[in-house]
Amino acid sequence: MTKRLENKIAIITGSGRGIGRACALRYGQEGAVVVVNDINAENVAKVTGEIVAAGGKAISYPADVTDPAQVQAMVDRAVSEFGRLDVLIQNAAISNTNKRPGQSVEEYAATTRPSNVSLDEMRAVWETNVFGVLAVYQAMLPLLREAPQARIVNVSSGVGSLTASSDPAYPWRAIFGPVYPASKTALNALTIAMAIELEPEGIKVNAVSPGFTRTNLNGYAGTETVEEGAREAVRVALLGHDGPTGTFTRWENATIPW
Ligand SMILES: NC(=O)c1ccc[n+]([C@@H]2O[C@H](COP(=O)([O-])OP(=O)(O)OC[C@H]3O[C@@H](n4cnc5c(N)ncnc54)[C@H](OP(=O)(O)O)[C@@H]3O)[C@@H](O)[C@H]2O)c1
Repeated sequence: MTKRLENKIAIITGSGRGIGRACALRYGQEGAVVVVNDINAENVAKVTGEIVAAGGKAISYPADVTDPAQVQAMVDRAVSEFGRLDVLIQNAAISNTNKRPGQSVEEYAATTRPSNVSLDEMRAVWETNVFGVLAVYQAMLPLLREAPQARIVNVSSGVGSLTASSDPAYPWRAIFGPVYPASKTALNALTIAMAIELEPEGIKVNAVSPGFTRTNLNGYAGTETVEEGAREAVRVALLGHDGPTGTFTRWENATIPW
């Protein structure tokens, strides 16, 4: 197999499990030096070990992306260990902080409507899914600028699509609310802003949706495997010089309306 990421440095946030882990394993197979980041240090060590055991290159960077000091420590390490960053996958996210065990997505959505949502709950989710992404972007940008063809992939979700959620026929319309879905809408807005900012420098910034994937995020209710969920992020990170920026797609290269 041709290793398409040979010697590239790739940081994947939230890669201790789920879709991020599947991206990390795949990047290891593609020859990247995979920087495994997650809030859960035990999972970071486990995934790093899995990549190395499979013959790949990986390094552990446990950190909470909502903690500025921990993000800065990651950057300081990356500056001294690599001096550049080729690929940044912004994958870390949470769907809630207070869903009761056994509570369905629909039941949780009913408690997080604009009229009754806890502002603390909304802030907590946006802290990881929106502000955490922006903080990592700002911190890592100097390193990305040192790479010849840097790529940023923001892992979003189809449920963040305003166009889809405005369509009465959209199956997820009923769960559109201020917490997780709107955090992904905000992430989409950040994606466009980042793509516009970096277009003159040739750094491509794209958003992807993994599809409904079996992970902890949705209580393992999803229908896709994590390997399937990881495919679009992997594809977009490999876009060449002529590839697009500022897109929102699902596998394989199917455009999702903003
Ligand atoms: N699963 C789906 O159906 C689906 C659909 C659309 C979009 N997505 C998106 O896909 C991405 C991956 O989600 P997933 O389904 O793989 O969920 P997951 O299995 O819960 O993985 C998310 C990972 O991010 C970590 N994380 C959470 N907060 C963090 C923080 N502050 N700093 C660093 N790491 C943090 C989690 O740590 P813990 O292990 O401690 O929780 C976990 O390992 C997310 O952006 C999600 O929104 C998923």
